[in-house]
Parts: sequence; C-alpha cells; structure tokens
Amino acid sequence: MEFDSVESIQLRAESRAFRRTLEIARKVAPYDTSVLLRGETGSGKEIVARFIHQHSRRADSRLYSISCGALPETLLESELFGHKAGAYTGAARDRVGLFEQGALGTILLDEIGDVGPAAQVKLLRVLQEREILRLGENIPRRVDIRILAATHRDLDEEVEAGRFRRDLLYRLRVVEIEVPPLRSRVEDIRPLAVHFARHAASRLGFPDRGFESGVLELFERYSWPGNVRELINAIERAAVLGGDGRIRRSDLPSQILFGSGAVPGSGKAAGMSLAEVEAAHIRKVLAHTGGSRSKTASVLGIGPSTLWRKMKRLGL
Ligand SMILES: Nc1ncnc2c1ncn2[C@@H]1O[C@H](COP(=O)(O)OP(=O)(O)OP(=O)(O)O)[C@@H](O)[C@H]1O
Ligand SMILES: [Mg+2]
Repeated sequence: MEFDSVESIQLRAESRAFRRTLEIARKVAPYDTSVLLRGETGSGKEIVARFIHQHSRRADSRLYSISCGALPETLLESELFGHKAGAYTGAARDRVGLFEQGALGTILLDEIGDVGPAAQVKLLRVLQEREILRLGENIPRRVDIRILAATHRDLDEEVEAGRFRRDLLYRLRVVEIEVPPLRSRVEDIRPLAVHFARHAASRLGFPDRGFESGVLELFERYSWPGNVRELINAIERAAVLGGDGRIRRSDLPSQILFGSGAVPGSGKAAGMSLAEVEAAHIRKVLAHTGGSRSKTASVLGIGPSTLWRKMKRLGL
C-alpha cells in the first residue's frame, strides 16, 4: 500500500490529449462521483488520481492507494473492510479497514480488474449503500469515502468473460477517464524528459542535466510501450551510465535507438526494398503519432503534401 506524499504533484501536460484528460479530471474532482481511470501501464493513471484527489473537497485528507492484484482475496478484503478477531486464521486482533480508516479521504482501487468475485460483491455494497461489514462481523458501519479505480484492462471484456460484475463496473464507471499512451501525445515527451533529467540530476547529485543532440528526437520517435515510467527509467539509466547526468545516445537501451519494427539499421531491413523500408517506416511513425499526418511529416522531415504523395504511391 502507498500513501500520498506531502509534496504536491508536478504534472507535465503540454499535449491537447493529456490536457483534455486533466480537464475532465478537474471537472469531476469536486464531487464524490466514482471515476474509473483507464490506460496502459505507466501512462499516469495514479498521478491523475492524485490530481483528482487534490482538487477535491477531500484534499485535506489522504489518498489511499491499494493495489488489488497484489494481495490474496482474504487479505485484500481485510485490508479494505477490516476484520473481527478470529475472522480467519491469522486474524488475531480486531482490525479497522481502509474504508473506515480513510474516512473523509479518497481511496484508489488500483488494478480493480484483479479483484475476485467475493470482494466484488462487497465493493458493490460499499458503492451502493456506503456501508461496510468487517470480516467476521454483522454490524453495518457507514463509511464516508470517495472511490476511484484504475485498470489497464478492458473491463467490458472482463464482464463479457464473466470475470467482472457488470453492476460493479457501472457503479465504478460513473465517469471514465482515459489516460492516453505517451506515443499518442508526442508533445509531452520533451517537457517530461527535460523535467525528469533535472530531477535525476538533482537527486543523484550530477552537475549536468542536458541531452546530447538528437536524443530528444529519438525519444519523440519511440513508441514507449512502458509509457512515462519507461521514459523516467531510460533517463535515470542514461544519467547514471554517463556518470555526469548528461543523457547520451550511447547510454540508451537499443529499443529506443533502433525501435522494434523493421527500420533501416535493423536486421530485417536487409532483405527489404527501399519502397518497403519507406512504407514500414512511415507506418511506424504514423503509429507513434497516433495517426497524425502533420506530426508524422514533421518527424520524417518532409512536408505534409510530400507525405501524402508518398502514402498514395506506397498504397498506405
Ligand atoms: N504527466 C506527468 N507528469 C509528471 N510525471 C508523470 C506524468 N505522468 C506520469 N508521471 C510519472 O510517471 C510514473 C508512472 O505514472 P503512474 O504511476 O501514474 O502510472 P500508472 O498508469 O498508474 O502505471 P501502472 O499501470 O503501472 O500502475 C510516476 O512516477 C508518475 O509520477
Ligand atoms: Mg498505477
């Protein structure tokens, strides 16, 4: 379990896509509405949850974040709802759960898709009645807490597969907020990189905090399957390997240098014609930019009309 730190969050948001996400978050923040945060791993679901908490009337209380997949079901239930002594083996004393302990605060149910069927029923009860039962007890207790949930899964699919309760999904997803993957908001990459290079340098005591030329462009072209967390790690790694905080090409992992598709320089490209390499590369950059032709053209260093002609010629 993690608790929020006292320092206020420093969110970087330049892209329209991420600003839109924060706009919705700010709108929904003041109310006790349940929010489901969806997004790929490392994209910023938790930081958006903190943003909601800090803009809510519960900001003076805490945000409790609990990773639902990390605990066996009984322990998770005991963590959330508390238990009476003897409720299960190992429950020696009465215990107050997070829903009671966190009164007036916010609780983030992280990886909500991993919650088992018994706990799903109990969560539904909290959401419907605003009441909990401690494990091994039959006294309903009222709780005053705001519930946020996060997942990288498609919960509609989980419902279809019979693994997640539809009624619980509807209660959790009064508002759904999509946290876009980093590759679809290229404008955020540079400010985030600059921010984290500074952060790494000051934390690790390095004199430098700059980038070798071309590095930021490489970052903008890469697909970042691990999103912001992968960016942070790449920067910290390079800062340490460089020994002075400067972020150099030679200290970046190969997938960032070469990408993972068939691009010039990779083995697969050796058997491809120039047109095939061109088509593969254009497709890849298009995917990185979330399909934006103008961004693709600027990454490729050509004009939008040249890109359009090439795409037509290559049958893209
Ligand atoms: N826009 C942003 N500005 C600054 N830091 C960010 C931003 N987005 C994400 N981060 C940082 O990136 C890291 C990953 O973000 P976060 O933990 O919120 O992702 P997540 O979606 O919850 O990931 P997971 O699915 O793995 O739980 C955190 O250290 C977070 O502080
Ligand atoms: Mg998270």
